[in-house]
Amino acid sequence: MSPLSLMPYLWFSTCCIVTAGIRTAQFTVHCGCSWLLCADVVCENSIKKVVKEVEEIVGDKGLNCLINNAGINVVASLEEVTAETMLTIYETNTVAQLMVTKAFLPLLRKAAQLSTGMGCHRAAIINMSSLAASMQLVQANEMFLKVYPYRIAKTALNMITRCLAADLKSDGILCISLHPGWLQTDMGGNMAPMQVQEAIPGILSVMDRLGEKENGSFLDWQGETLPW
Ligand SMILES: *[C@@H]1O[C@H](CO)[C@@H](O)[C@H](O)[C@H]1NC(C)=O
Ligand SMILES: *[C@@H]1O[C@H](CO)[C@@H](O)[C@H](O)[C@H]1NC(C)=O
Repeated sequence: MSPLSLMPYLWFSTCCIVTAGIRTAQFTVHCGCSWLLCADVVCENSIKKVVKEVEEIVGDKGLNCLINNAGINVVASLEEVTAETMLTIYETNTVAQLMVTKAFLPLLRKAAQLSTGMGCHRAAIINMSSLAASMQLVQANEMFLKVYPYRIAKTALNMITRCLAADLKSDGILCISLHPGWLQTDMGGNMAPMQVQEAIPGILSVMDRLGEKENGSFLDWQGETLPW
């Protein structure tokens, strides 16, 4: 792993803990330069609250990088897919990412005003997408066929990336879609060929190298361009 040129001085992670169908109350965990904040990305008030919390900490410096990572999946083949699963997945994997991005835009713009060029050193939005979203690679990736809602929602997310990249370029805010690899996570399952810790150095070094040329692109964890 090559050393990164950009070492964030403040890190924020968010999560939403659901126990027996009930979402946990507000929590904040703080250690050194890291914060773990509570955010439910499908709840407008929760998004507002977390933006305010981050704003209070970063002040006039704004936010340099937003990673839209929250996502859910269900196995749903053509026979199994229902309107309800389509809408549930779309809400979390597509609509929520756009709403979170909109809510953080003022902080991203603040950071963008303090710097030049393009990249995570200035202001960037990284949308965690998926190889399974590629329309051109559908036939090459038949194993993904059984997740209709997930694939379609991630393809829509890729369009958001393209629209944002075009809309925000005058602000100097970079936008990309990133395929993190098929990883052994709760979502990726045991069959996944790679562990999370194998992909992270690649993802960080791709983010480190992002510049104007990569704005609006669809990259994987090794920095390879994926076809839309
Ligand atoms: C990304 O930003 C660059 C620099 O402003 C711009 O030339 C490019 O067209 C943008 N990309 C997209 C896909 O809009
Ligand atoms: C990321 O997703 C958000 C919301 O879905 C969208 O507004 C934004 O353009 C996307 N950015 C990139 C770089 O894909």
